[in-house]
Amino acid sequence: MNLIQSPTPLHRLNRLSEELGLDVWIKRDDLTGFAMGGNKGRKLEYLIADVLAQKAEVVVTCGAAQSNFIRQLGAACSICSVHCAAAVMAMPFDIQAPEGAAIEEGGNLVLDELLGVDLRFHPNGTWDHLDVLAEQLAVEFEREGKRTYRLPVGGSSPLGAYAFIKAAEELTESFDFIVFASSSGSTHTGLQTAFRDTGTRILGIACDPEPEIAEDFAELSSGLNGMDPTFPKLDAGDYQLNFDYVGPGYGIPSAEGNAAIRLLARTEGIFLDPIYSGKAFAGLLDLAERGQISGKVLFWHTGGTPGLFVH
Ligand SMILES: Cc1ncc(COP(=O)(O)O)c(C=O)c1O
Repeated sequence: MNLIQSPTPLHRLNRLSEELGLDVWIKRDDLTGFAMGGNKGRKLEYLIADVLAQKAEVVVTCGAAQSNFIRQLGAACSICSVHCAAAVMAMPFDIQAPEGAAIEEGGNLVLDELLGVDLRFHPNGTWDHLDVLAEQLAVEFEREGKRTYRLPVGGSSPLGAYAFIKAAEELTESFDFIVFASSSGSTHTGLQTAFRDTGTRILGIACDPEPEIAEDFAELSSGLNGMDPTFPKLDAGDYQLNFDYVGPGYGIPSAEGNAAIRLLARTEGIFLDPIYSGKAFAGLLDLAERGQISGKVLFWHTGGTPGLFVH
C-alpha cells in the first residue's frame, strides 16, 4: 500500500562535512511525508497491506507514550477505517522523567489525539509487561467479536524488516558506513540483510539500554528467513550495535544528543529528535572523531521530529 513519498532525498552534508573534515551524507527518512515522516511509514506500507488482507477491524500494538510508530500507525489506520488501539506507558524501566519533562503530553500525543488513536495508559514497567498488556487488550477486542491484528512494538515484525531491505534499494551511492538510530530492530535487520557481503558497514546506535536486544533482532531475522528463505538468518553477533550513546536512558534526552541536534540545525538547517536520531548523530560524530568510522559515511535519518515538542 502506498503511503510514503519515496525515494526519500539522499544528499551530502556539505557544510558539516567541511566543518568537521568528514564526508557525511544523509538519507532523509524524516521526509517520508506520511503523518509527519519517519522510518515507520516504510514499514507500514507492508504492515497495513497485511492488516487489510486479513480483513482486520482492529489493530492492537504497544509502545512508549511518545511512540512515533503509534502516531504513524494511527494515521494509516485512519486511512483504512481500522480502529487503532495501543497499550502505552510513559517510560520503560521505571525511569524517572527529568525535572520539567512533560512526557505524557505534547509531541506525538497531540497527533494521536487528532487521529483518534485509542490509547490505554499504564504505569511504567518493562517492555515484556507491556506486551502482556497489549495481548490482554487484543483478547478484549476479540471477545467483542472484532477481527484483531497484533503488531509488535515499533512495527518490528518480519514485514517491517522487509521494508528496510527494499529501502536499501533507494541508495544511488555506495558508502563505507551507514549509521542510524536502532531500537526495536526492523530498520537494523533490514539494512544488515540488504548490505551483508558488501563493503558497507551497518552501525546501529542503540537508543535502548538492553544489551540483549541483539538477540531479539536475530529472532526477527529468523522470521524474515521464514518468510523468504533467500534472506539469511543473522546471529546476534552479526549486528553492530553501539550502546555508548543511550545517555540517561531510553526516552530521556542526552547532553551529547542535544548538542548534535543543535549542530545539525545550525550547519544544515535539518532537525533531529532528542530520543533517537539526535543520539544516533551524536554517536556518528563521536565515533568519527575517534577514528572508528571513516570514509564515506551515510547518516540514515529515521525521523521523530514531533519529539522535539515534548522536551
Ligand atoms: C525516530 C525513530 N528513529 C529510529 C527508531 C528505531 O527504529 P527501529 O524501531 O526500527 O529500530 C525509531 C523507533 O522507535 C524511531 O521512532
